[in-house]
Amino acid sequence: MQAVEFDQFGDPSVLKLRAVTDPVAGATEVLVQVRAAALNPKDVLLRKGKFGWLSGKRFPMGVGFDFAGVVLAGAMAPGTRVWGMLGGFRGRCVAEQLVARPSELAVMPDRLDFNHAAALPLVGLTALQALRDRAEIREGQRLLINGASGGLGLVAIQIGKLLGAHVTTLSSAANRPLCKRMGADVVLDYRVDEPLSRPSAFDVIFDVFGNRSLAAARTCLKRGGVYVTTVPSRQILSDQISSAWSRRCRAKLIIVKPKPADLEQLAWWVNGGKLKPVLDRILTMADVADGQRFLETKRARGKVVVQIGS
Ligand SMILES: NC(=O)c1ccc[n+]([C@@H]2O[C@H](COP(=O)([O-])OP(=O)(O)OC[C@H]3O[C@@H](n4cnc5c(N)ncnc54)[C@H](OP(=O)(O)O)[C@@H]3O)[C@@H](O)[C@H]2O)c1
Repeated sequence: MQAVEFDQFGDPSVLKLRAVTDPVAGATEVLVQVRAAALNPKDVLLRKGKFGWLSGKRFPMGVGFDFAGVVLAGAMAPGTRVWGMLGGFRGRCVAEQLVARPSELAVMPDRLDFNHAAALPLVGLTALQALRDRAEIREGQRLLINGASGGLGLVAIQIGKLLGAHVTTLSSAANRPLCKRMGADVVLDYRVDEPLSRPSAFDVIFDVFGNRSLAAARTCLKRGGVYVTTVPSRQILSDQISSAWSRRCRAKLIIVKPKPADLEQLAWWVNGGKLKPVLDRILTMADVADGQRFLETKRARGKVVVQIGS
């Protein structure tokens, strides 16, 4: 089969589309014919070698952590249309076939084609687990999303609304209309507005872009408020511990995990017309290096998806 792999860490030119051996599923695994995969900043970090011992240095390494496709064999009925996200730090979704654990996939929403389905698992799971589980957001609470117009942010706006929050977004001026279309109640421009200086304005800050901090967010968080970031750092690990029992405000890091029940929740919302993937662009497997170069500009408006097969 064809797959995108790399044999060393480096710039996007290390990515190679080539023929590789077909994967084989064990009795408890599922062999999937991949029809589309999404690219994420995680792929860029992996290709640059930023995950250290978590990814190891065993080459070749693959690309892609979320996918949509059709079951070929294994622990699910052949022909089932599935979507999912791989756990761990080694991607392999930008390939014609992959092997996944049942804990990494679920039946994909009927309403979507493969390209749109592939755009949701990683960012949908992240937004859901960040807002529902880490922030424990409740109906009527005020949510600020920083970095709202990217792949994760546009889904976080929708899930914030589905969980009953009043949603304020921070993005560039050019992306405010897009944030509004995705359901935000208030859309701010980070070059003009500084909502973090407004006293007690928010119950939850979801720092999708990850360039703020608990210290910077403290003023604008209400008593009992939560600051959630996507970006691991010494600071957030220390803030998490030191604020764990604080009644004033707490800091939390989200590390997304595959979970079939959460994929089913996302599918339920999609099938009900309440959650929509947003695609920036659709590429072929031959264009993955360009796709990663584009992600590195940090200007994506939605997801970069790789269509696999016709
Ligand atoms: N921990 C986890 O489990 C987890 C899971 C998923 C993602 N993440 C992380 O979450 C981050 C966002 O992921 P993503 O998929 O949304 O990335 P993305 O699609 O590449 O995000 C692009 C967006 O970033 C915005 N942006 C650029 N500069 C900004 C700034 N200074 N302030 C605010 N927004 C800015 C851009 O909007 P403008 O053009 O409007 O500025 C653009 O729309 C990444 O660091 C990723 O690694 C972590």
